Amino acid sequence: MFKVPRNSFYILSLAYIIIINKYSTTNMLQVTEKEDISPSSSDNTKLKKDWSSVKDIRQESKTFGTRLLENKEDVWRHNAWDHVEWDEEQEEAAKQKVLLQSNNPMALKEQQKYLKDPSEFWNTFYKHNENKFFKDRQWLKIEFPELHDTTNVDSGNKKIFEIGCGAGNTMFPLLSINKNSNLFIYACDFAENAVQVVKNNNEYNSNYCKAFVWDLTNKHIPIEFIEPNSLDIVVLIFVMSALCPNDWNQAVDNVYKMLKPGGLVLFRDYGRYDMVQLRFKEGRMLSDNFYVRGDGTRVYFFTSDEIEKIWGSKFSIEQNAVDRRLIVNRHRKLQMYRIWLQGKFRKLPNL
Ligand SMILES: C[S@@+](CC[C@H](N)C(=O)[O-])C[C@H]1O[C@@H](n2cnc3c(N)ncnc32)[C@H](O)[C@@H]1O
Repeated sequence: MFKVPRNSFYILSLAYIIIINKYSTTNMLQVTEKEDISPSSSDNTKLKKDWSSVKDIRQESKTFGTRLLENKEDVWRHNAWDHVEWDEEQEEAAKQKVLLQSNNPMALKEQQKYLKDPSEFWNTFYKHNENKFFKDRQWLKIEFPELHDTTNVDSGNKKIFEIGCGAGNTMFPLLSINKNSNLFIYACDFAENAVQVVKNNNEYNSNYCKAFVWDLTNKHIPIEFIEPNSLDIVVLIFVMSALCPNDWNQAVDNVYKMLKPGGLVLFRDYGRYDMVQLRFKEGRMLSDNFYVRGDGTRVYFFTSDEIEKIWGSKFSIEQNAVDRRLIVNRHRKLQMYRIWLQGKFRKLPNL
């Protein structure tokens, strides 16, 4: 008679645990990414979103063409709501949460590891995730039509630089629709593995693009690839937040040097009290509003006033907007308050 080996139960249990872990990790990654930096992908209602969700902080009037939550009881009717204002109680709770975090920062000795070589952690991130983080972002066209305009057949010579490109989330969607034979897209990241991910993409074509390793906080611009005053557009999407606040000025100087007079910076990043900030546990804060994630990568949460200060001295601020969205997971009955900042900064002609 067939005899079941005594330890087969343990082997089967172990295999079950490994399989469950594998799938739950993959799921977790997807949820984190989705919740983290994809403002429109979370809005998976049947209705295709074709309006901008941002509101310039200098704009007084009510925004039209958006989905506003007028009555709190309607919250479960859609998966996302625009321009969700917080009441005093919610604002106060967020302040208290951040106060608790700043009263319990990361120990100074431990901080050194994350301040010394931040690219190491992003390198590991891309090694493990390869190009799982590639997203064909539909919102790029809505929020930054300037990018799509460069792809028209008659747009003439255009040079775009995607800094902190990761998997190339701006470069590849643009290349895929490009009809302009005079468009060239540069992409850089300080993590070598990210650049490798970009180069491994089937859509990578050295006639139209060039990816290379460069650190935005470097004291020198990468003149071997990019001449001073030569770029039409610099894209900074969820990159400035990864920098130490001490490095912001150097980053802005570098961008300024590479852009043409009249050239444009397109910026999008995390806003103060975004859900991701409020989720940080004690012991993760490096300095005010600057944290280390579990994987060692760093993230800062900006206010619109800071954006004005950082960019305003050298650039004309054409947009300084906030995107406050309530993302609803109707199935899990979750309400997630997201806050992203978005900006368009034009290089002033001779300073
Ligand atoms: C949150 S990811 C965003 C990636 C991509 N921009 C996107 O939106 O999908 C931040 C990226 O910035 C890169 N990065 C962080 N600090 C950088 C620096 N000082 N210079 C260049 N790249 C940097 C990281 O390696 C990472 O790929």
